[in-house]
Amino acid sequence: MRCLVTGATGDVGSKVVKRLIERGERPRIFVRDPEKAHALFGPKVEMCKGDSSDPASLKPAFESTDAVFLVNSGPEIPRRDQAAARAAREAGVKRVVKLSSLDVEQGLAIGAWHEKGEAAFRSSGIAFTFIRPSGFMSNLLAWAGSIKAEGAVRSSTGDGKRAFIHSDDIAAVAVEALTNARYEGQSLPITGPEALSFPEVTARIGAIIRKQLRFEAISDEEAGIRYAAATGAGPEETEAHVALWRAIREGQLGSVTDTVERILGRKPISLDKWLDENAAAFC
Ligand SMILES: NC(=O)c1ccc[n+]([C@@H]2O[C@H](COP(=O)([O-])OP(=O)(O)OC[C@H]3O[C@@H](n4cnc5c(N)ncnc54)[C@H](OP(=O)(O)O)[C@@H]3O)[C@@H](O)[C@H]2O)c1
Repeated sequence: MRCLVTGATGDVGSKVVKRLIERGERPRIFVRDPEKAHALFGPKVEMCKGDSSDPASLKPAFESTDAVFLVNSGPEIPRRDQAAARAAREAGVKRVVKLSSLDVEQGLAIGAWHEKGEAAFRSSGIAFTFIRPSGFMSNLLAWAGSIKAEGAVRSSTGDGKRAFIHSDDIAAVAVEALTNARYEGQSLPITGPEALSFPEVTARIGAIIRKQLRFEAISDEEAGIRYAAATGAGPEETEAHVALWRAIREGQLGSVTDTVERILGRKPISLDKWLDENAAAFC
């Protein structure tokens, strides 16, 4: 199978590329910044320069490709997934593995964008697998600034829980789906090993860095203002994140699945392992 990886310079995509290289393959990658990609992978990949906002640039990347790992982000997900489904069908791609979200099951916020993206592939006639992860452990890096400056974490998630997942587990599952037909037509809901509240995660970080941290519950409104200020996100993206955190607070997104273990034959990576790897970011 000749694989194409989009989002190859991102958290999950870069790990998918590295895993394919480790398997002895030379994957094709679709990137908007070849220099950044070269610094990550050197000559071990075939580079296609393009931008998902320009559907015409997908065409040369998708041609002569058997399987695509697809990453699209933000409010543009439905439109960009539709364009990718069209390009994949026209190029004769055999299989698409889409990085989706566990929150599709609730149909809310970012999950609603992914639901529309998934629909484009369901109706495309191309074999698909939807990888549906819970919240990434790497999201916790967004807390590094306030932890370092004030010893504090602020969130509107209350005591609601989330089974954070390591992006290496997501990549490992994605590579399984890319490289064999067993998961075609399936949605794979994947989570980390345990559901934890954000105050519990705050305490785990404090234990690793040996610092007393405080968790402050904030309102939806304050969470939205802080998110927009920190990321520069527009109203639609900000409201989607506020809705996601509200759903966590309401206990809608705390499920734990055994999918990682079923597919990889081992337990998902623990939060403590991720914290060991990333402790320096919080000091
Ligand atoms: N974070 C979570 O908790 C969570 C949970 C469930 C699902 N998800 C889903 O996971 C996906 C994000 O995955 P990730 O965290 O691995 O991504 P990421 O680290 O944010 O990286 C995004 C990748 O997409 C590329 N990209 C962005 N805009 C592009 C464009 N216009 N054209 C071409 N490439 C473009 C980026 O390239 P550059 O290097 O050039 O920027 C980068 O390689 C999203 O679909 C999100 O909804 C996330």
